[in-house]
Amino acid sequence: MNNAAQTRAIQLAVIVGSLRAQSYSRKIARALAARAPDSMRCRFIEIGDLPLYNEDLEGEDPPRAWSTFRAEIRSADAVLFVTPEYNRSIPGCLKNALDVGSRPSGKSVFKGLPAGVVSVTPNKLGAFGANHALRQTFVFLDMPVMQQPEAYFSTVADLLDDKGGVKSSETAGSLEKFMSALEDWIRTIRPDDASFEAFMRQREKIAEDYVNGDAKSLEAIVTHAEPATFFSPRGDHLQGANAVASRYERDARSFHEGGSTDLEVLQSSASGGLAFWTGLQHAEARMGKNGETTAMTLRVTEVFRFEDGAFRLVHRHADPAKAG
Ligand SMILES: Cc1cc2nc3c(=O)[nH]c(=O)nc-3n(C[C@H](O)[C@H](O)[C@H](O)COP(=O)(O)O)c2cc1C
Repeated sequence: MNNAAQTRAIQLAVIVGSLRAQSYSRKIARALAARAPDSMRCRFIEIGDLPLYNEDLEGEDPPRAWSTFRAEIRSADAVLFVTPEYNRSIPGCLKNALDVGSRPSGKSVFKGLPAGVVSVTPNKLGAFGANHALRQTFVFLDMPVMQQPEAYFSTVADLLDDKGGVKSSETAGSLEKFMSALEDWIRTIRPDDASFEAFMRQREKIAEDYVNGDAKSLEAIVTHAEPATFFSPRGDHLQGANAVASRYERDARSFHEGGSTDLEVLQSSASGGLAFWTGLQHAEARMGKNGETTAMTLRVTEVFRFEDGAFRLVHRHADPAKAG
């Protein structure tokens, strides 16, 4: 679990798929929000006033409610959907909200946002259909959704007291567990500054290996996906994941053991699957036939993409700041 003091709070948009004043789904959503970890801020986004999606209304001046809704989702890190089941699927109001957020084409506000799903029914049998119909939309919306734990609340009225709170500690515990798992899931998909800082400590060690002629640890963090670019201190540049990876490997061979380096990070940030640092790399490297020690300072910018659960180097620009 992440330490709230070190990590940026997650902005979680909560969308309830029911417009009913006494909605069980909303009561469960409130109970979930009340049990969110301290490092999560839950914000209920209302969907009841969204005009039905109609492509003819797009353009310069779409309905204000659509623009507001899109802006609200855009400012969120993740979305929690809490929905009833209508005719073994999701209610029309929820589908409409998804349609509104998904357009104009190519500008979907949902793309890449991690999601959690909770479905609710007052009946014994139900909630499964809505849960999975919603998950089906995430394929095209390109929303990574938490798989476990699943959350289907049947006979939901029995779980709630007169004031809308949950009756049993067992239910409270499962809501809390769900929110905690959701936080972990969101942080896996959208790493923040704190996890990038941890990665940068590893990056420093990798740079040290490199100036000692060992490219293996760098190879482990270099992307194998496109695009990839490298602007070398010699002034040339190349692009393409394979070309860049083999260049790093070849350049490492020009260093002998006994070098050292230090990254002076002037600025760094991570957000939404991308991260960068920029600053100075001070190095004392043993190079050439005789392995003479050369001191150098490079101005460096590196960009990383979060791929397969880890940061990968996708761009490096380095040029000499001064030679010593
Ligand atoms: C149009 C409609 C279709 C429904 N279809 C289902 C269904 O397929 N499965 C189910 O379990 N309940 C179904 N119900 C009952 C709802 O689960 C119930 O009304 C529930 O209270 C709605 O959620 P809410 O309390 O959050 O508004 C349906 C209700 C409506 C109004």
